[in-house]
Amino acid sequence: MEKIYVRGGAPLRGTIRVSGSKNASLAIMAACLLVEGRTILRNVPDIRDIHNMAEVLRELGATVRFSTDGVVSIDAAGFQETNAPEELVSKMRASFYVMGPMLARLGEGHVAQPGGCNIGARPVDFHIRGLQALGAQVKAEGGVVDAYAPRLRGANIYLDFPSAGATTHLITAACLAEGITTIENAATEPEVADLVNFLRALGARIEGAGTSTVIVQGVDKLQTNREYTIIPDRMEAGTFACAAAITRGDVVLENVTAAHMQPVLVKLQDMGVSVTAIGADVDAPGLLRIAASGRCNAVDILAMPHPGFPTDMQQPMVALLALSDGASMVTDRVFENRFRYVSELQRMGADIRVEGRTAFVHGVDRLKGASICATDLRAGAALIVAALAAEGESTVSGVEHVDRGYGALVEKLQMAGADITRVDSDHPSRLLAVG
Ligand code: EPU
Repeated sequence: MEKIYVRGGAPLRGTIRVSGSKNASLAIMAACLLVEGRTILRNVPDIRDIHNMAEVLRELGATVRFSTDGVVSIDAAGFQETNAPEELVSKMRASFYVMGPMLARLGEGHVAQPGGCNIGARPVDFHIRGLQALGAQVKAEGGVVDAYAPRLRGANIYLDFPSAGATTHLITAACLAEGITTIENAATEPEVADLVNFLRALGARIEGAGTSTVIVQGVDKLQTNREYTIIPDRMEAGTFACAAAITRGDVVLENVTAAHMQPVLVKLQDMGVSVTAIGADVDAPGLLRIAASGRCNAVDILAMPHPGFPTDMQQPMVALLALSDGASMVTDRVFENRFRYVSELQRMGADIRVEGRTAFVHGVDRLKGASICATDLRAGAALIVAALAAEGESTVSGVEHVDRGYGALVEKLQMAGADITRVDSDHPSRLLAVG
């Protein structure tokens, strides 16, 4: 079993390169199934979820090739399998996104219903209702969703909640549908806008990217042999920003779109952290300097759909607040069970009380290293951020969760001066290469 050892206290310094967005890449990889040929993606992160999605696409008949520096070539000319492998789908909810292209290109799809997970129930009812509105016959029984649609037809869809996943999935499904689809109360996350920009680059006709009303005019085909560069991962960047702030470090993050991070950057500034976007264009990937010289101030946080504070960042932020000066209230309006990591922070000496969807944090002077376990991806990020500033040594288990979304995390933090190592706990003397 692999673990991450951290000896806290070293301020992070230097430059850290941020990878491409996990969630944009997952949505865009699934959408490549719409193309009857090859698509080249750039800035794809080298993480477990991406390799898992690649495996799903291969099982469906696509060819997926990884080359150096985040370039992935996907050729979906051979896409003809309508059964997604349950074992792979159950590992990752985003694999449900392949249902839309199955219906659009093959007229039917059979995909395991993703279960609940460590952060909440996470049903797919919005996806299913949207596909039904587009004309699919859908049956969800025995843990499998079976859907049939000789031809998807444009429709008006209203989402009860601006779900990122349902919005991306339904935009993808509607691209090749006959007529116009309007999605109201759509998610406005940068990753949704990135999917739309990708599809438009391939000839799709879509208006309203990044707004709550998205209009898709179906086309017959998408173009082949197009190249597209994925946006930077704002969650990875935000995690490094918290790590820099909690260690009172001074770090330059490379490949960051500052405009996508505004809700997080504004909070960091309120906490007394120095945030400087270097270069003229905050809407394009560039450099971001994060520096902190003392203890941060407490702030309140309300996690909600974009442009609100992102739910994926509340965990590393709570780690930072645990060592800040004063009391904070952190509420998550997106997922009902996203504070499970708090018990691990408490083991490190954090003073946090959770009531329902709210965590009440009283900043303490110091955290102490402990043996702690990540229960999900962002929980792992929070624990590593806390461990970087804790006194003494921490051992983080549940590393497989961290690997889903952070590529070469240990190596990147080492380069910035952190005392952090990945080990095989069955053979503690053997250091592991990180991948
Ligand atoms: N929801 C429903 N029914 C649905 C879909 C969603 O009730 O059919 C509910 C969910 O249970 C949740 C809320 O709507 O309470 C929002 O869920 P959403 O669909 O927006 O989340 P998601 O698409 O499943 C994506 C990201 C998550 C991120 C959320 C919110 C991917 C692969 N995942 O999930 O990322 O937290 O949006 O921004 O894009 C992560 O990266 O760690 C992560 C969990």
